[in-house]
Amino acid sequence: MTEIRELVKSLADKYGRERESLIPILQGIVLKENYLSEEAMTEVARELDLSAAQVYGTASFYSFLDTEPRGKYVIRVCKTITCDMHGKKQIVRTIEDLLKIKVGETSKNKKFTLLETNCLGWCHEGPVMLINDQPYSALTVEKVHSILVDYIKNR
Ligand code: FES
Repeated sequence: MTEIRELVKSLADKYGRERESLIPILQGIVLKENYLSEEAMTEVARELDLSAAQVYGTASFYSFLDTEPRGKYVIRVCKTITCDMHGKKQIVRTIEDLLKIKVGETSKNKKFTLLETNCLGWCHEGPVMLINDQPYSALTVEKVHSILVDYIKNR
């Protein structure tokens, strides 16, 4: 049995093989593999008796279920209106300059991926970004700079 098949099987044993087991299983895969490969999605479809299109549709609807390889740290900057009005563009530009990548890209050393995302529910403290599960709010150019320098040097 391939590694991915084993992983999917163990997640299905844990969460069940119903329609509502799909998201926890996909999340379990992302947690382990960092993203959802086509092979993984096909395996999930087989295990849960769904079509590959159903699995892919669910994965791409939830932007947190990445379907492409990502860096060790995935930075998601909120692009929704409140954060946008509070200077999100400048925040994105600062990150792009510092990491030498554009939105949607992963750094050469595979350490960082930069993405934009919809409202993270921290509008009162925008602009906001997440680095993996860690939220950073009330961002300024200086604040983003020091957060990222810490990630670059110490992690
Ligand atoms: S608009 Fe950015 S967190 Fe809500």
